[in-house]
Amino acid sequence: MKIGIIGAGGVGQQLATDLVKLGHEAVIGTRDSSKLAEYKTKNPTVVIGSFADAAKQPDLIMLATNWGGTQNALELAGIENLAGKVVVDITNPLDFSTGKPALALGFTTSAGELIQSWLPNAHVVKALNIITANAMLTPKTYIGGEPDMFIAGNDTTAKKTVSSFLEGVGWGIVDLGDITQSRLLEPLAMIWITVGFQSNWTKVNHGFKLLNK
Ligand SMILES: NC(=O)c1ccc[n+]([C@@H]2O[C@H](COP(=O)([O-])OP(=O)(O)OC[C@H]3O[C@@H](n4cnc5c(N)ncnc54)[C@H](OP(=O)(O)O)[C@@H]3O)[C@@H](O)[C@H]2O)c1
Repeated sequence: MKIGIIGAGGVGQQLATDLVKLGHEAVIGTRDSSKLAEYKTKNPTVVIGSFADAAKQPDLIMLATNWGGTQNALELAGIENLAGKVVVDITNPLDFSTGKPALALGFTTSAGELIQSWLPNAHVVKALNIITANAMLTPKTYIGGEPDMFIAGNDTTAKKTVSSFLEGVGWGIVDLGDITQSRLLEPLAMIWITVGFQSNWTKVNHGFKLLNK
């Protein structure tokens, strides 16, 4: 599959590296490809381009941008380029202004819902926002079994596409419902983030699982 990644931070880079290992084509979008020069030497098969390059051709889009720049990144990617596409929203709407990570919004809307409203003709599926980047495509590496991946989105077919892709790398999927359920998934990510923050980011390899007895 050809996968476009809008976002060239730690998440975008790790995803592209792991996607290529899985046999996919990966295109990372950024405003400044020069800053990925060293990454490119280590990952020669990953294509580095503009946000629009990551949006135009690929079969599946992964969105991994800083929350404050997300709307701008999508506009630079081209709202029309994303029409009809499945967009996996990995963002968390974080506010670091107090020095401590907090959610910038959440009771009456969510990043997932805002992104869906900015991309009215795309199919946004919230997923992967509750896990560290280096585990997003390697859930089988967890001690004690893989965590679950919770997803939310309005379009059933798009959720099937994302579910089968994630199941293919080993995730168990829990579908929470429509995109408004991002209001649950973004605070859930805050548990992951808070444990990481409290440990000065030495503890990031934790995930969540629904257990039954
Ligand atoms: N770190 C994790 O393990 C993890 C786990 C789950 C979810 N997340 C979420 O994933 C997202 C990405 O995180 P990250 O740490 O990889 O990267 P990040 O530093 O949060 O974001 C980097 C990307 O955001 C873009 N960006 C920033 N400001 C922009 C603006 N004004 N206009 C357009 N684009 C802008 C950058 O574009 P340029 O490349 O052009 O500079 C870059 O591609 C975040 O929402 C984060 O909360 C992270």
